[in-house]
Order: sequence, then structure tokens, then C-alpha cells
Amino acid sequence: MFQVSEVLRKVPFFQSLGKDGIDFIIERLKFKPFEANETICQAGDPGDKMYIIINGNVKVVVQADPGGEENIVAQLKTGDYFGEMSLLTGEPRSASVVTTEPSEMFILNKSDFDVIIERFPSISLSMSKIMSQRLRDTNQKAAQRGSADVARISGDLSQKPLEEVMKACEKDSLNGRVMIKNGEQVGELLYARGELQKVVLGDYPEDQALDMMLNWQEGRFMIEQRPIQVQEKAKAAAAAAPEQPCLLIVNNSMVVQKLLQRAFESMGYEVYTVETAAKASKMIRSLEPHLIISDTKLPDAEGVSFLKTYREISQTPVVLLTEASGKDQIRTATSDYSDIHFTNSQEVGEVVKIVESILKNG
Ligand code: CMP
Repeated sequence: MFQVSEVLRKVPFFQSLGKDGIDFIIERLKFKPFEANETICQAGDPGDKMYIIINGNVKVVVQADPGGEENIVAQLKTGDYFGEMSLLTGEPRSASVVTTEPSEMFILNKSDFDVIIERFPSISLSMSKIMSQRLRDTNQKAAQRGSADVARISGDLSQKPLEEVMKACEKDSLNGRVMIKNGEQVGELLYARGELQKVVLGDYPEDQALDMMLNWQEGRFMIEQRPIQVQEKAKAAAAAAPEQPCLLIVNNSMVVQKLLQRAFESMGYEVYTVETAAKASKMIRSLEPHLIISDTKLPDAEGVSFLKTYREISQTPVVLLTEASGKDQIRTATSDYSDIHFTNSQEVGEVVKIVESILKNG
């Protein structure tokens, strides 16, 4: 049987207290053994105890969302303690703590903890030093993870259907991709600033691929988020590489969107597509495209009021997809705006020629 005071003296947390302090605390500690893989406290639960590890090992775990992937933020060992944050702040548990091997703990209740803190204020100081160190370690880990330039969240389609995942991606302006796995099949959705850009599932056409994946009741999804480059990094990247022209296509027809997107992408352009004026305005602000190709009828804009929306944000050239027959009428309606160009048809070849000539001369 161990000598409690001997054990406590090895715990850094108690070292500064001296014999009186340790005797005072010993009376208030309860001993409890745990099996391996026991969850001692659960993130989000109220916390009214703290734990000191006499022997053993635990992992401190957080989850981005319920049912999502576990992230181990720390491993604690003999002599460490946990559960103090809730006692100090009154907030729910900030993480779950799970044993990774059979472990023995001392447990201190909140009421005793409060008495001890009042009687030995030096403990608060030593705790805040340890909390800062933990925060520093966690930040360092997050920075290392960030340097891979990808943040990942995953979950089960049975708990979060793809439709909900897609709504969240749009709401969070996802820059990155969603991988979806069902049995042997693996699909992919590519996003730019929360806009779905591409759907891939084997050789299926995009519409059919999306329909199929939306119907998957089971399987896993994983969202991989690429952080938007901070300005300095973006500038360095721009300096290092020749600039790729960036186009925004605003069109309510998926077919027109995809035809133009494929053509321009095959020529090395960076292409983004949206279907409404409201989404276009969001994208113009964040993307600052070199040129906008827009339909003349958009579901959320009266007449050519979408041009006003674009021009409130940027003076980027706009190519309007017009037919030879209706061109004069549109030209008159848009005469208040500069740098507006018109096509004679919606043929990809003609649109490409017009875009190339504007960008070359601009
Ligand atoms: P509490 O929030 O009460 O419950 C979970 C405990 O896990 C928390 O107190 C800390 O003791 C511990 N914990 C939380 N985050 C970390 C971290 N990043 N590093 C080490 N321990 C942590």
C-alpha cells in the first residue's frame, strides 16, 4: 500500500505546499481505481470534481461535432491532474478524459477544492502556470496541423445526411472538399467559398452523381478545409507563380455553367460558378475575379439590376451572354455601365474569344 503523503509530494501541483498543506488536502481526497478505456469525464457535462493521477495514463479528447472524429489534445500521466478548469470557471467540461490503461486517481470535490484554494492561494498560481503551458502545447499542435494546410472534420452519414453536410459547407463558406464513402464507392464534392464547384463519383455525370450520393443513408463523410491564404502568403504565392486569370460565371443554367467552366479550365483559367446575383456579389468581394461572365436574366434580380450589384463592388469587365437579336435592347438598358461586353450567341468558342481579347487588351 502506498504512503499517500509520499505520492502527493511527487505531484508538482502539491510540491509548494509543505507538510501542513499536504495533510490538509489528504483528508479531503478520495481514492478510486479505473479500468482502461473508462471515460472519467465527458466534454459538455457539468464538472464538480478534479482528478490527480497517482498511477496511469489518460487521453484528453475533443470532437469537432457529435459523432465526429476524435482529436487527442493531450496525454496526461502519473503526477498530472485534470478537471480543474470546470472547478475554476464553473463552465462545463472542456474535453473528455479517457483512461488509456488501468489507472488510479485521487478525486477532490468542488467544495473541498474551493476551501483549499482559499487557504493556499499559491495553488491558483501554479495551476494557472500549468494551464498556460497546456494551452501553449495545444496551440503548437494546432499550428503543426495547420501547416499541413488542411483541417479535417468527419462523421457518419447516418447521423448527418449529406444534404445537411452540404448546407453546413455553404453556410461556413467552405474552401476545400467533402469526401463521401459508401462501401466501395468514394465520391467528392469540391467547394470554393461555400459554392459547390464540382461533383465527382466514378464516371457518372455530375447531376446523377450528386443525386446518388444524396440518397446514401450510410457511410462516412470527411470535410477537408483548406484555409484561405492569408494576404502575405497569397502575395508570396502570386509573386512566385505567373498569375492565373480568374473568372466568375454567373448563370442559372447548370449546363451553361459547366460548358463554360470546362472550356476555360482546360485553358488554365481559375473558374468559379454561381447561379444568383446575391451569391455573385459575395464571390466578387472575396475572389476579386479578373472578369465576370453573366447571364442577362438572374432569378433574384429585376432586369439588369444585377449590374448595379456587381458595380457597387468592383469595376471588373463583365461579358453578358446575349443573342444577336436581343443585343441592342440590352446594350441600351446597360448604357449607364462601363466595361460591359456582349456576345452574339452563347457558343463557347465565341465567349472564349471575347474573354481572351478583353483580358489581353486590358
Ligand atoms: P475540465 O474542463 O474541467 O475537464 C476536462 C479537462 O481536460 C480540463 O478540465 C483539463 O484539466 C483537461 N484539459 C482540457 N484541455 C486540455 C489541454 N489542451 N491540455 C491538457 N489538458 C487539458
